Amino acid sequence: MEHLPKRVQTLLKLMPFVVIGLSLLFIAAESFNPKPVQGQEPAPGDRSRGGKLYVAWDMAYDKNLPQTRNPLWPENTASRVPNVLTWRCVNCHSWDYRGSSSNTQSFLFKNLDIPGLFGMMEKTQSEIIPWLTGENNPNHDFSAYLTEKDLNDLSAFLSTGLVTPNLIANVETNQAFGNLQVGEDSYVEFCSSCHGMEGEKINYGTTEVPTFMGDMAMTNPWRVAHIVRYGHLAANVPPAEALGLPFSQQIDIIAYTQTLPTALTITAPEFLDIDFDSQASTNPLAFGAILLTLLIFGSVLFTLRNRSKPL
Ligand code: HEC
Ligand code: HEC
Repeated sequence: MEHLPKRVQTLLKLMPFVVIGLSLLFIAAESFNPKPVQGQEPAPGDRSRGGKLYVAWDMAYDKNLPQTRNPLWPENTASRVPNVLTWRCVNCHSWDYRGSSSNTQSFLFKNLDIPGLFGMMEKTQSEIIPWLTGENNPNHDFSAYLTEKDLNDLSAFLSTGLVTPNLIANVETNQAFGNLQVGEDSYVEFCSSCHGMEGEKINYGTTEVPTFMGDMAMTNPWRVAHIVRYGHLAANVPPAEALGLPFSQQIDIIAYTQTLPTALTITAPEFLDIDFDSQASTNPLAFGAILLTLLIFGSVLFTLRNRSKPL
């Protein structure tokens, strides 16, 4: 080494550290970018489009629903559901993908044997598609209506797009998990232009039975989650993935929509006079004041009690 110039000698001495440093960086980068488990190739297909097809493949891509009744749809609900609606995936497998064990399904559905879809998670196309083309059950056959692309997209959705319901909200109380402050910011940024600051502008229900954002978020947070994750059918709202919203931020939005007023408040004549913003900022103050009073009162009582104790 002595015959080499000083600068080169120093460089050579530093070499091992550089190599170790680079290897550590490489390992870290690899672990942040996990590779799919071997043997579980992700199904090719567009899962966002698949998520829309799941809600209403007919509406999504201008196809006509069959007029006949789906052979798997129970007869006893005949009077309540038009035949055509018995062909949409979500009407049977539900918004939280739990089938008849979903909390949001009607009483009649609870007695049926419609499976949840979680068995499809991370399955390959060749395992999922036979369920949609009648190969696994001749009564569960959509091959006359869905194209090869539709089938691929649906299978991509089933394989990589499902979320277990308890990651979105408590399945007993429907209370969504999530950070309200982040949720509010995202709601204002991505939703309020159409739905209004209080979710009051779009009524998804009827005039008789109005349903606003706040109502749907409380009764079925999974439905709101699916719409956020996969986009709207009738309006041109992109899926969360395309908006760059990570999963946690999607859930924050759901949690915030649960704080919005419901139809009862929105349809009340005095609704326009309610100033939600000032209400929102006074509520924590009032709450704080009550808490403080209680604390002072409590400590006074405590001191008095301790004083009167026999020694
Ligand atoms: C009329 C109600 C109904 C509709 C509509 C419906 N399904 Fe099903 N689905 C069922 C029933 C019932 C089964 C169980 C069939 C069996 O076990 O043979 C099932 C089974 C499945 C399975 C297999 C689940 C498993 O783990 O065994 C998948 C996947 C599936 N459906 C996806 C879909 C998709 C995607 C759509 C929309 C294109 C759809 N279903 C529409 C009732 C329905
Ligand atoms: C460009 C306007 C627009 C934006 C932005 C928008 N929506 Fe909507 N939304 C609509 C319209 C119009 C409907 C009713 C038509 C429909 O069912 O798709 C609707 C319907 C919905 C529904 C009910 C869908 C159903 O199941 O019938 C939900 C839930 C919803 N929006 C949530 C959201 C959330 C959350 C955001 C923000 C991430 C958002 N929307 C942003 C226009 C919009």
